Amino acid sequence: MTPLLQRKLIVVTGKGGVGKTTISGALGLLAARRGLRTLVVEVGERQHIPALLDIPEPSQAGIEVSLSDSLSSMSIDPDRALADWLRALGGRVSSRVLLSSATFQYFVAAAPGAREVLSMVKVLELTENEDKPGRKRNRDAYDLVILDAPATGHALALLSSPRTFTGLARVGPIAAQTRLVSDLLEDPERSGYVAVAQGSEMAVAETLELRDRLREELDRELDVVIANGALPRRFDEHELSKVAKLGAEHPATRSAIAAANAVHVRARMQNNQIARLRRQQLHVLRVPFLFMPGLDATALQSIASRLERGLGLTESA
Ligand SMILES: Nc1ncnc2c1ncn2[C@@H]1O[C@H](COP(=O)(O)OP(=O)(O)O)[C@@H](O)[C@H]1O
Ligand SMILES: [Mg+2]
Repeated sequence: MTPLLQRKLIVVTGKGGVGKTTISGALGLLAARRGLRTLVVEVGERQHIPALLDIPEPSQAGIEVSLSDSLSSMSIDPDRALADWLRALGGRVSSRVLLSSATFQYFVAAAPGAREVLSMVKVLELTENEDKPGRKRNRDAYDLVILDAPATGHALALLSSPRTFTGLARVGPIAAQTRLVSDLLEDPERSGYVAVAQGSEMAVAETLELRDRLREELDRELDVVIANGALPRRFDEHELSKVAKLGAEHPATRSAIAAANAVHVRARMQNNQIARLRRQQLHVLRVPFLFMPGLDATALQSIASRLERGLGLTESA
């Protein structure tokens, strides 16, 4: 099996708020550290990864930002991808005007999957750096593209768009590129899938749903599931029984006992949920909850190191 970082595209998805952008950024740092020219692509108008590394966000979607020697980021906005494409068909209207027009809304409704497939065509182009007949080698192309995909449902709409999308063009460049998108997404040597989850009932259910849909739509498996924000098991049973025996006359002692028990119960609930993932024979990697007000570059680097060990890329794995 081709190691994850040696593929061209890694798709990161999961439930809203579980840490997809954080994990995508950390994977980007990891790949760049290992010498790969890496691009992290967010979906939507805004970019969040530059700020994590203390770099100002560009004013527009679609602009590549250099974050370090080997790491860049950009965002792809599906609405804009469709507007740009419509405009390239020959309209004089600017993409901005098109976006707010009734025609655009009509188009979105009439051609399901168009925005998504055009976004994926952009992703495909970013992954292409091999010599091809009739195509000049792009020397600045990336070794690896990491797609910080939207939450599961929307991510699946992107991933299955080559199939959904049938209206726009059956022949011509778009049809050909759509097939190339499918080829990439279905090829285990060139693409990989990372699910980000948390130790909660809902996030685990969504991960299992994602696993099933990936199988159905693309005949692919999840390469790894990140159990993000995992709480440490601070106390073993012996310690807990000692805690239970502490005198509880003082309010401060009472709250300390309550806090110790609460943390223990939460960590245990999380572990039970993470165990549900492991029972499905998924490759589960725990990333600890980092206790700090907001994650920064140092935090991201430490998550990158955690992923490096978990993916078996270091000797201490
Ligand atoms: N391992 C972690 N420890 C602590 N906070 C985290 C961790 N992972 C993510 N977060 C925080 O959780 C919030 C959501 O993370 P984010 O990566 O933006 O999620 P998503 O992209 O899935 O919506 C952010 O505030 C982020 O800093
Ligand atoms: Mg995000």
